[in-house]
Amino acid sequence: MTAGVDRGHPQAQAIRSDEDVVRVRQLVRTVAVAVRLSLVDQTKLVTAASELARNTLVYGGGGTAEVSMVDNGLRRGVRIVFADDGPGIADLDLALTDGYTTGGGLGLGLSGARRLVDEFDIDTGPERGTRITVTKWSR
Ligand SMILES: Nc1ncnc2c1ncn2[C@@H]1O[C@H](COP(=O)(O)OP(=O)(O)OP(=O)(O)O)[C@@H](O)[C@H]1O
Ligand SMILES: [Mg+2]
Repeated sequence: MTAGVDRGHPQAQAIRSDEDVVRVRQLVRTVAVAVRLSLVDQTKLVTAASELARNTLVYGGGGTAEVSMVDNGLRRGVRIVFADDGPGIADLDLALTDGYTTGGGLGLGLSGARRLVDEFDIDTGPERGTRITVTKWSR
């Protein structure tokens, strides 16, 4: 087991700066290696996590990433919960459309992240902020 990362004990990382986004990437890579994701799947998950962490920072005004190992009896995986108390996403379908951006980006972060993981769930609203849960399973 990797130090500090145990099943059922998520590791939390604050997201308040660019350096924190790098820390999220490193933590996700470490846990992905520990659950034996393939190199390709490690890279997909780290890429998705990087986009979601950046959105948390830029649009959510900062927040947290919680990274944990999961086990469904057949496979192990990595689950990451990104949470912020920002303004929420008003039109989720629109936000998930390739090319939609309110910040002058490419508008590919959310939609791309969704394609790179196995499970993708968003809970968002003006009074709730945004909470995005992603999971990638070993195969
Ligand atoms: N945590 C969040 N809180 C509020 N709005 C968000 C959040 N994450 C995404 N959004 C909204 O969804 C839009 C689409 O996000 P997405 O990551 O796809 O594109 P982007 O960040 O604008 O550009 P890119 O990621 O390609 O550089 C954002 O422009 C923003 O309006
Ligand atoms: Mg983005």
